[in-house]
Amino acid sequence: MKLVYKGKTKDVYELEDGNYLLKFKDDVTGEDGVFDPGANSVGLTIEGMGRSGLKLTKLFFEKINEKGIPTHYIDCDIDAATMTVKPATMFGKGIEVICRYRAVGSFIRRYGLYAKEGMPLDAYVEVTLKDDERQDPLINEDALHMLGILTREEYAILKDLTVKISNIVKEELEKKGIELYDIKLEFGRIGEDKHIALIDEISGGNMRAYKDGQYIEPLDLEKMLLLK
Ligand SMILES: Nc1ncnc2c1ncn2[C@@H]1O[C@H](COP(=O)(O)OP(=O)(O)O)[C@@H](O)[C@H]1O
Ligand SMILES: [Mg+2]
Repeated sequence: MKLVYKGKTKDVYELEDGNYLLKFKDDVTGEDGVFDPGANSVGLTIEGMGRSGLKLTKLFFEKINEKGIPTHYIDCDIDAATMTVKPATMFGKGIEVICRYRAVGSFIRRYGLYAKEGMPLDAYVEVTLKDDERQDPLINEDALHMLGILTREEYAILKDLTVKISNIVKEELEKKGIELYDIKLEFGRIGEDKHIALIDEISGGNMRAYKDGQYIEPLDLEKMLLLK
């Protein structure tokens, strides 16, 4: 196994057959010990976080695969906190796609002159560049196209897949009386045909969820969702 990337919350290895192995760590993004899914640094370490995130990722990726949406998921080993995936190539140096159902976090920081915390947003899609040095700047379709990161056709597919996937997650949360406010997804190109597929993970650390107006911490969210 060859280590190809050491990330904030996962390490990526290349397997002999060419697939990738994602090792989920107990590190969580945030600042000064406070969790923030939008943060660009590791803020805290929580025992069992890696395995918990993987369990939820497995649940969501299997659901999403069932609906015929392409993903990188092959299988996983919960005890080892590892997931085997198909290798993807990135759009540029990587992009993140956010889908928002209620205003919170960076949306309020940016648009606070007009937006109120918690106001409904209709599956509003935003794209950011993975660029820690520049605090993951927001980018629009024209710039993505102009900079050669995505074609317009790919952008349309990306946006459509984002809403579909986010709605699947939203419905899953609703079954437990939990409301999804926002979620962050990653996509890449997979296979010889370079089709667009969902990559990375979907765990509590990628979303903000609320119950009765109260924010739910990732570990609690994972417990609530994994409870049969
Ligand atoms: N199927 C895949 N192929 C290639 N890279 C992937 C795949 N799935 C996830 N990744 C990348 O692996 C890294 C996972 O580690 P993570 O700790 O989440 O990194 P980061 O600190 O960049 O968020 C991310 O950079 C993510 O883009
Ligand atoms: Mg990540």
